[in-house]
Amino acid sequence: MTHFSVKSSSHPQIKQNFDLTSFNTLGLPSKAARFVEVSSTDHLLKLHEQAFFKEKLPFVLGGGSNVLLKDYLDIPVLKNSISGKKVIKQDENFVWIEAGAGENWHKLVSWAVEQDFGGIENLALIPGTVGAAPIQNIGAYGVELEQVFESLELFDMRTGKLHTYRREECEFGYRDSIFKRELKGQVIVTKVVLTLTKTNHIIQSSYRSLNDYLREHNITQPVIRDIFDAVVAIRRSKLPDPADLGNAGSFFKNPVVVRSVLEPILREYCDVPYYEMEGELVKIPAGWLIEKAGWKGRRVGNVGTYENQALVIVNHGGATGEEVYEHAMRIKASVKKVFGIDLVPEVNIVQ
Ligand code: EPU
Repeated sequence: MTHFSVKSSSHPQIKQNFDLTSFNTLGLPSKAARFVEVSSTDHLLKLHEQAFFKEKLPFVLGGGSNVLLKDYLDIPVLKNSISGKKVIKQDENFVWIEAGAGENWHKLVSWAVEQDFGGIENLALIPGTVGAAPIQNIGAYGVELEQVFESLELFDMRTGKLHTYRREECEFGYRDSIFKRELKGQVIVTKVVLTLTKTNHIIQSSYRSLNDYLREHNITQPVIRDIFDAVVAIRRSKLPDPADLGNAGSFFKNPVVVRSVLEPILREYCDVPYYEMEGELVKIPAGWLIEKAGWKGRRVGNVGTYENQALVIVNHGGATGEEVYEHAMRIKASVKKVFGIDLVPEVNIVQ
């Protein structure tokens, strides 16, 4: 069960004028003035010794599935490819798994489901890497990463030191954590530890589209494999595969607003979907707002909004970062005009 990589002893190679087109799932043409790929913490320590982090801190790239890159990046780019996954501890009911930040997230989920380890099956097929997962506290179909998160190890680029952050220290929120705020751009996640169930799995099937899917397929007592299969099928039907159509998943966050903002919308559309939050707050799906503002499936030049999920902006081929950004801003202005709601990008816009 252990296949953690042996620490690489080679020196990380710094490349100049490096093409990032195949390193971002929107498929945007982009070049980095300097690029380095690291496959171990040892590589990070060596880069620190070489004063790589001294002048400009690099932009850290994982799977490139949540970024909008401009055509030329004069900050260095560091690709995090630290691999490996293993069980580090277990008792009768739980198992603690450790995974390198550069591991593909979906492969980790598939591996866990194969071992009958429960807790992340609802997060199947989320693109990107293990290291990016805690940064935006990935979530889907009723589950957020923080529910299974134990700790992570990170490398502080300013000091060259490694630190462990436990769940409470990560300050998780909806698509949010301390790594998107105070520590933004300063640290590199090297590995993540998750606590999964071995017995008494908690089956989370109440998310509407998941529940509908299970009912339609007559699955009345789902096990974690059923949830995994259902999530994979739902995502495949709604979200485009970046290999076919460049995209970065949900482009905006679902806005959280006070109830008084929802009232006039409810008067006009009695079927507006929304989720009650704490206090007087409600979360409204941005995809619904964008669709009602007339953007679903609409194309402008090389950029468009996906026909099955208006929250996803797609590159029909040949789009630049600038074009995608302009398209996103048009959508934002339109939703603001129609509903008076400000959409905030979920995708990381790299300037
Ligand atoms: N909707 C529309 N039109 C659209 C899209 C959605 O009316 O074009 C409606 C749906 O009918 C549904 C509601 O909006 O009533 C919610 O839609 P969906 O279940 O597709 O989820 P979402 O809120 O649009 C969020 C996450 C996704 C995640 C899904 C499933 C965010 C920003 N997005 O999308 O995450 O997969 O829930 O849990 O929270 C991502 O972060 O990249 C991502 C894909």
